[in-house]
Amino acid sequence: MSFLTEFIRSPWTVGAVAPSSAALARVATAPVPRTAGTVVVELGAGTGAFTGHIQQRLAGNGHHVAVEINERLAIRLATRYPTVDVALADARDLDAVLASRGLPHADVIVSGLPWAAFAEGQQRDVLSAAVDALSPGGVFTTFAYVHARWAPPARRLQRALESRFDEVVVGRTVWGNLPPALVYHCRRPAPVPVAGAGTRGGRAVHPSGR
Ligand SMILES: C[S@@+](CC[C@H](N)C(=O)[O-])C[C@H]1O[C@@H](n2cnc3c(N)ncnc32)[C@H](O)[C@@H]1O
Repeated sequence: MSFLTEFIRSPWTVGAVAPSSAALARVATAPVPRTAGTVVVELGAGTGAFTGHIQQRLAGNGHHVAVEINERLAIRLATRYPTVDVALADARDLDAVLASRGLPHADVIVSGLPWAAFAEGQQRDVLSAAVDALSPGGVFTTFAYVHARWAPPARRLQRALESRFDEVVVGRTVWGNLPPALVYHCRRPAPVPVAGAGTRGGRAVHPSGR
């Protein structure tokens, strides 16, 4: 079972034909601190292109929650990275994922989500969930493909990021990614009130899949 197989099965959810490169992963995960007690959330972890880099930076410190909506990918991820807390859940339910683990907030959120494939409402809901989950000094990173940067979904995302964060810095193009991509580094979230968290904690995934 490969990333490409999952793309063919579910192109609008997977959103890319190949995993991100190590070059892109290094840039997207750079804000992950090497200090103990950090809560790092990875959204749309897929086959783990960013996961190993986050684990390397944490070096056994902190709590790394990887949220993935595709069950096959989530099981594969949990098997490959047994020290990562894999949640089979929709990123929209991040509040419940954190609450079910007793985590008050995330210090860093690294997103690998396919924003361009999301409808406007879904994009808004997922971003709200991420912003609301961040600590006041938290950092959010996500990426966009350069060729699609000026297409309506990517422009909508950039506008939304700029409205939800005090600082949005667009990184240099990562030419070593296929296709070339750039990373948004977003700081100082501005949360807005959202209705009750409910019971949407997702399901913890263990290597056996149970
Ligand atoms: C473009 S792939 C990126 C995978 C990996 N982070 C990388 O960069 O190679 C997007 C991933 O997001 C997952 N995904 C899509 N929508 C999601 C959602 N609402 N909640 C959680 N994961 C989602 C997909 O299943 C897929 O694994």
